[in-house]
Amino acid sequence: MAEVAEKEKVQMLDIYVMGKRYKVPEGLTIQTALEYCGYHIIRGCGCRAGFCGACGTIYNFTYDPTIRYALGCQKEIEQNMVITQIPFFPATEALYNVEDLEPKEGENKLVELYPDILTCFGCNNCTKTCPQDLEVMEFMSAAIRGDIKRVAELSFDCLICGLCAARCPQGLQPYNVALAARRIYGHYMAPKSQHNLNRVKEIEEGKFNVELEELKKASEAELRKRYAAREIEPAK
Ligand code: FES
Repeated sequence: MAEVAEKEKVQMLDIYVMGKRYKVPEGLTIQTALEYCGYHIIRGCGCRAGFCGACGTIYNFTYDPTIRYALGCQKEIEQNMVITQIPFFPATEALYNVEDLEPKEGENKLVELYPDILTCFGCNNCTKTCPQDLEVMEFMSAAIRGDIKRVAELSFDCLICGLCAARCPQGLQPYNVALAARRIYGHYMAPKSQHNLNRVKEIEEGKFNVELEELKKASEAELRKRYAAREIEPAK
């Protein structure tokens, strides 16, 4: 019995937030540890599930100054972790209308939008930074070659957290380059999904207007109930 109680004892870890030391139970993510310490996170936090990319965080250790990068909602705290959240990355994004970006032989739309990508010298910092373990440098090389399909495929799981841009010594924005590639790929090259097109047509024709109006008037509790009970399309 005593052994079980001993096993169940939660170990407390020391972490540092903006230089202040806190004791927090092991097993928390950076995000939940910050909340345990009393921080009310209203920025730098979104889905809490590793999808939205809002929670880019940098950390190092009291005994090791090397900066590391992670998603705050996914990375578990470790002893002597020193944490700083970065709410957003002011990286530039090219302005474009995807209707004007039809890929043509002999043209590289990605280089037209982001000419700086030609200055990439292959340091691979972007790949090492990516919390999704994407081959970022690999898709940047594909972007330079104008291989939009390859960029779209390699960057498919990008969360747009911006950590790659934070590490690029050339000031490039791999995540925005990849986003443009996926937009071009989706618009011009990917096979069309007929059931999706049908559904868009039904929406445009007003098939769901009554239900949408009903949802707009529903309480939060009712919306949560319906969300939990919703039908999910089975995986093929
Ligand atoms: S809060 Fe959305 S990825 Fe972390």
